[in-house]
Amino acid sequence: MSRITALNIRDYKTSGNKFSMVTAYDYTSARLAEDANIPVLLVGDSLGMVVMGYESTIPVTMDDMIRHTKMVVRGSTTAHIVSDLPFMTYQESPSTALHNAALLIQEGGAQSVKMEGGENISEAISNIARNGIPVMGHLGLTPQYVHALSGYQLQGKTQTTASQLIADALAVEAAGAYAIVLELIPRELSELVTSQLSIPTIGIGAGPSCDGQVQVIHDILGLYNDFVPKHTKQYCNLSNIAVSALREYSSEVSEGIFPSQTNSFSMPQGELPND
Ligand code: KIV
Repeated sequence: MSRITALNIRDYKTSGNKFSMVTAYDYTSARLAEDANIPVLLVGDSLGMVVMGYESTIPVTMDDMIRHTKMVVRGSTTAHIVSDLPFMTYQESPSTALHNAALLIQEGGAQSVKMEGGENISEAISNIARNGIPVMGHLGLTPQYVHALSGYQLQGKTQTTASQLIADALAVEAAGAYAIVLELIPRELSELVTSQLSIPTIGIGAGPSCDGQVQVIHDILGLYNDFVPKHTKQYCNLSNIAVSALREYSSEVSEGIFPSQTNSFSMPQGELPND
């Protein structure tokens, strides 16, 4: 079975099909998303935080991204897999950017790459795209720039920053990107950007007007209870279910209830030494 392509995703805009994307970081999360028929899986560098326990996405390396992309590829058959180029792997020069994008495709098995930034990275985007690797852009809150943005805040709230974001979106489109993630910007701004682009916008905390939506799988499945971002919705609370199941397991072990006869194996008669 063939996978959904970047061209198919671009066509979602023309046909008006709102589509979903979710992060996947390993074989199991990819299997779950694939079983739910989610067309686009993002191997996000958010894995640095939700899988590896870092405070930001900045420590994530190319090796991390390649390793996790391979796991997601093994867990899915039809979804399009887009993999994040991590911090400082595409800013230095368009040729390093192409080299690293090629590694995610060739070694990792992704079908496209995602990059954070606008006019500042347009040459890198165009070098990758014109060499046959589809690129997804990422604007608004760009977590790899967290130190320059002074935290994880709503972006594009003023006329100046909103105008810059529109200019960035047009530059990313002109450079050859097939879609753009818009993270944490006012819904009025994402509506305007979406109407000005011929490629799809994919929102996270950017309101309902985007052509598609993306969410971090840990957020929508409720794998964390400590912090639920405003832009997310917990469709279930796997954390509560998991903790109570683990407590029950632990107490059954202490009480000698688990394992029972049904969870263990018996020796064929007469085979037990000294029987
Ligand atoms: O890394 C990630 O998970 C992302 C999404 C938040 C869009 O970039």
